[in-house]
Amino acid sequence: MPGHMAMRDVLPMSWSDEAAGPMVGGVALAELAAEHGTPLYVVDEEHLRARFTDFRKAFGADTQLAYAAKAFFCVALAEMLAGEGWWVDAVSEGEIKTALEGRMAPSRILFHGNYKTDAELGMALDEGVGRIIVDDPSEIGRIKAADRSVAVLLRLNLDVAADTHPHIRTTGADVHFGMSVDAADAAIAAAVDGPVNLRGVHVHIGSQIGDPHRYHDAAIAALDFIDERRQVFGDRPELDLGGGMAAPYRADDRLIALEDYADAIRSAIGDAQVRLFVEPGRRVIANAGLSLYTVGVRKEAEPPFLAVDGGISDNPRPALYGATYEAVSLSRRGEEAPFRIVGRHCETGDRITQARLPRDTGPGDLIAIPATGAYGFSMASRYNMLPRRPVVFVGDGSARVAVAGETLGDVVR
Ligand code: LLP
Repeated sequence: MPGHMAMRDVLPMSWSDEAAGPMVGGVALAELAAEHGTPLYVVDEEHLRARFTDFRKAFGADTQLAYAAKAFFCVALAEMLAGEGWWVDAVSEGEIKTALEGRMAPSRILFHGNYKTDAELGMALDEGVGRIIVDDPSEIGRIKAADRSVAVLLRLNLDVAADTHPHIRTTGADVHFGMSVDAADAAIAAAVDGPVNLRGVHVHIGSQIGDPHRYHDAAIAALDFIDERRQVFGDRPELDLGGGMAAPYRADDRLIALEDYADAIRSAIGDAQVRLFVEPGRRVIANAGLSLYTVGVRKEAEPPFLAVDGGISDNPRPALYGATYEAVSLSRRGEEAPFRIVGRHCETGDRITQARLPRDTGPGDLIAIPATGAYGFSMASRYNMLPRRPVVFVGDGSARVAVAGETLGDVVR
């Protein structure tokens, strides 16, 4: 977007403004909308590849990168991760199955979760996942009962007061993830003489973390825990600092360099002999993705409402976290005015964002909402019995359906 420098950080990197309208991955967005209908999720493969490289550069070859599947996952993405040598953080049978379907090695799956069903734990052990992230001491007993040897990280709940929305903050006494130091010691005691191979600890402080120094604090606290129990974790203990690196949603959001997160962690680790893991989701996929909608109704108000054909069902983030987004017209150019872009669901809270669009925007126009790649499709619902919408990957001038949309038949069934 000319004159809007920081908008570049929000848009997929292959976005280009052509005479025929915006393109991503060499494909006109309006053509995608015509072919697949709207709402539509579009993912820029070049952007994804660039993020894989950025993480590798910032964190270095000796850090193990694992992608958090919960942000968005599908077989096509699993295949890309397999090719890049990334691991994956999975929390369900569905996420594990998708990783395997994408030919990721089971040994590159980190199996997480504060509630692992017997079926899921059994599947993880049968497939031979790389690590189980134990969230409660009781899991040690369950693994021992299955009598399958497996490498384990202990998820610690260390209060490092992450500065983010309370719903996506994951440490502190009021949080139900991970173990206190006492509970972790109980897990360690339970693990003696058995198939559980304790490798290290896991700490995920939260998501959309705007202050890299929190990772420093988390790493220091985790390293103290490890140091006091050196004999437990072997020669090169593993330290998994989770995900949470922030992505820009609006043009005026500050873009925090990945190096700043990496440096904060490195300054805590110093020359301690640990193997570092990080598990980013959002920062990898958020800005690679965007959502296309068709405006159906314009209601005059101050500022006017534009109702689009999706909303809380394909992106619950505004309603859940007060998230806001930019908007770009695919149909018009010219002088802009503020609009309130709302969804089609029967809730006052179904408001996608407030943003500037060409003044004459109205029914039939296409708009793109950038930065919806993370936690949009993955948290989509069928609210009001709308079928879930497809995800299309674009790159090198072509498009492929990475996730098929649901049909009305699916919804009724
Ligand atoms: N590792 C663990 C253990 C996690 O719980 C999460 C996210 C991640 C990694 C990846 O975090 P990320 O890099 O994506 O921030 N639905 C919310 C976000 C929930 C995050 C849950 N855990 C949202 O839309 O903002």
